[in-house]
Amino acid sequence: MLLLFSLLCVFVAIESVPHPNRANDDRFLLPADFISSRRVIFQPGKSVVSENNDEIDTVVTSEQSDSEIEGIASKDRVWPDGKVPYVLDGDFNELQRQLIANAVEDFHNRTCVKFVPKKEADTSFVRIKYGGEGEGCSSLLGRRTDNFDTPGQAVVLNVECLNPGTIRHELMHTLGFRHEQTRADRDEYVKIFWDNVDDKDHDKFQKATVLDFAQVGTDYDYGSVMHSDAFVNAKNRDKPTMVKKLKAGPEIGQRGGFSDMDILKINRLYNCQIFTATK
Ligand SMILES: *[C@@H]1O[C@H](CO)[C@@H](O)[C@H](O)[C@H]1NC(C)=O
Repeated sequence: MLLLFSLLCVFVAIESVPHPNRANDDRFLLPADFISSRRVIFQPGKSVVSENNDEIDTVVTSEQSDSEIEGIASKDRVWPDGKVPYVLDGDFNELQRQLIANAVEDFHNRTCVKFVPKKEADTSFVRIKYGGEGEGCSSLLGRRTDNFDTPGQAVVLNVECLNPGTIRHELMHTLGFRHEQTRADRDEYVKIFWDNVDDKDHDKFQKATVLDFAQVGTDYDYGSVMHSDAFVNAKNRDKPTMVKKLKAGPEIGQRGGFSDMDILKINRLYNCQIFTATK
C-alpha cells in the first residue's frame, strides 16, 4: 500500500513538470488564442490616455550609461533574425490571452518580427508577466543578455496595461524602441513644461543627444504608439507636461494600435526586406 502510494506520488510529480512540447501548454499562445482573438472586437482603448488614469509605464534600462541615454548603444540589443522567444508567466485569463495574441499577430502580419515559444536552448527570452494591480507596465529596452534572478527579461503587463495599444507599446520597447518624445529632435515638435514634471520623473524626459538608431530615419511621429500623452508624469494632473508645437498631425498618446510609421520603423530596424521593399 505504501509502495503504491509512493509510486503514485512519483507519477504525480513527473506529471506536473511542465513539458515545453505539451500540446496545451498555457505558457505559450495557442492556435485557439489566435483564432478566438479574431472573433473579438477589441475596444481600441482610449485614443488619448486620460488625465487621471496614468499609464504607469517604465522602460527599465539597467546598467544605464551615457551611451544608453544617447539611444541604444549597439545593435546587440536587436533580436537576431527578429526572433523573440517568449513565455507567458502567470494566469492570464482568456480575454487577456486573446489581447496578447492579437498584438503578436499584428506584429507577425505587418513586420518580420516573430514571437516564438521559448525553447530550452534560448538564453535571451521574454517573460511576459501578469503584474498585480498597480504594478504598472514595464519592459526592458531591447534584447538583454543579463543574468536575471528569474531567467528571461520581464515584460510586465498589469491589468491596466491589457489594452491593444499598451501591449504593442511595451513589446516595441522590448524590440528596442524608446518613447517618441525622447528623440534628439523632439524640441522642434513638443514643448515640455518642466515645472509640472514630477521630480522623480525628470529622467524620463531626458532626450537623446544624438538621433537614436532605432528611429531609423523616420520623421517625428505624434501618432506613434510610443508617444506618451500630454499629461504623463504630471505633478498637477490638470495641466499638461507637454504640448504639440505643430498644429498638424494627430493628438499625442494614442493607444489604439500601431501608426504606419511604427510599422515602418520596426521593419527598418529589423531589416525586413519584404515589408520595406515597396516603401
Ligand atoms: C492578420 O491577418 C489575417 C489574415 O489577413 C487576419 O485575418 C487577421 O485579422 C490579422 N490579425 C490582426 C491582429 O490584424
